[in-house]
Amino acid sequence: MSAKEIITAGCYHIPVLLSETTDGLDIHEGGRYIDATFGGGGHSREILRRLNGTGHLYGFDQDADAATNVPQDAANFTFVHSNFQYLEHWMRFYGEEGVDGILADLGVSSHHFDDEHRGFSFRFDAPLDMRMNRKGGMTAADVLNTYDEAALSKIFTLYGELKNGRRLANAVTKQRGAREYRMVNDLLETARPIIGTAREKKDMAKLFQALRIEVNHEMEVLENMLCAALRVLKPGGRLSILTYHSLEDRMVKNFMRSGNIEGKVEVDFYGNRLSPLQPVGNKPIVPSEEEQQRNPRSRSAKLRVAVKV
Ligand SMILES: C[S@@+](CC[C@H](N)C(=O)[O-])C[C@H]1O[C@@H](n2cnc3c(N)ncnc32)[C@H](O)[C@@H]1O
Repeated sequence: MSAKEIITAGCYHIPVLLSETTDGLDIHEGGRYIDATFGGGGHSREILRRLNGTGHLYGFDQDADAATNVPQDAANFTFVHSNFQYLEHWMRFYGEEGVDGILADLGVSSHHFDDEHRGFSFRFDAPLDMRMNRKGGMTAADVLNTYDEAALSKIFTLYGELKNGRRLANAVTKQRGAREYRMVNDLLETARPIIGTAREKKDMAKLFQALRIEVNHEMEVLENMLCAALRVLKPGGRLSILTYHSLEDRMVKNFMRSGNIEGKVEVDFYGNRLSPLQPVGNKPIVPSEEEQQRNPRSRSAKLRVAVKV
């Protein structure tokens, strides 16, 4: 199915923890909100429904394909085709003095995995691209062809949590001496003998996830977005964030308890905590068994919510 067919077939993306993530924003009519990851617009449509024609919602997405999902009948919605790390600049541009809530549903959408031309999935032999924003930046092929072995090893081990990350990095650097990486099958040929058959699907998914995180600088832009969110939220404003792997979950968890990604909580002279955010609940919310069955993509999801103090 082509990107266009997927979009018109209406299966761009099934929203994860739809009610819970939107509940996290504690929406009130007249409020101003940001959906930092618009995608198929599932969460945005739910926010707009609860706004009931009042207030305003800004929907960010760095992938131009997402614009196809913009609701045509909502005067209180603005689509912002940009990386969410720039949300503070955009709010200044639109004259917003502070928002009541920011939602982020991190990573890529089903649309990315299902598009057979973009290289996000090992199911299709596409060019090794993996950029959410195709206007610029390095592709996955560039990463594989130019990074040294130590850098590749770090990416595979850290972002992919792959036990054999070092061996994979070594095999990639050896292989590219003979032939450049261009297509998904080039990478599969290198990785298959190392990964083996027992865990092939799981580990290939991790390898592709690792490359995607690097190509899109996902950890760096998440940190920038969290810091910007803190400046853009009004006191009492809500942050509601869905993560899908342990690295991003740790960053969000630390940030929500301390206001920094290291998770270091400052205390005043009397030992009182000085965090700018107050987490809602002690544990993340995870999808029910029923949701995980219905929407396998939701399986690794964790929802964390915090209120700006
Ligand atoms: C998991 S999907 C969101 C799905 C959405 N909640 C829905 O209900 O359809 C993530 C979306 O965020 C976009 N995205 C990811 N990182 C981004 C970033 N740094 N800046 C802007 N958009 C980003 C992706 O292109 C993708 O469309």
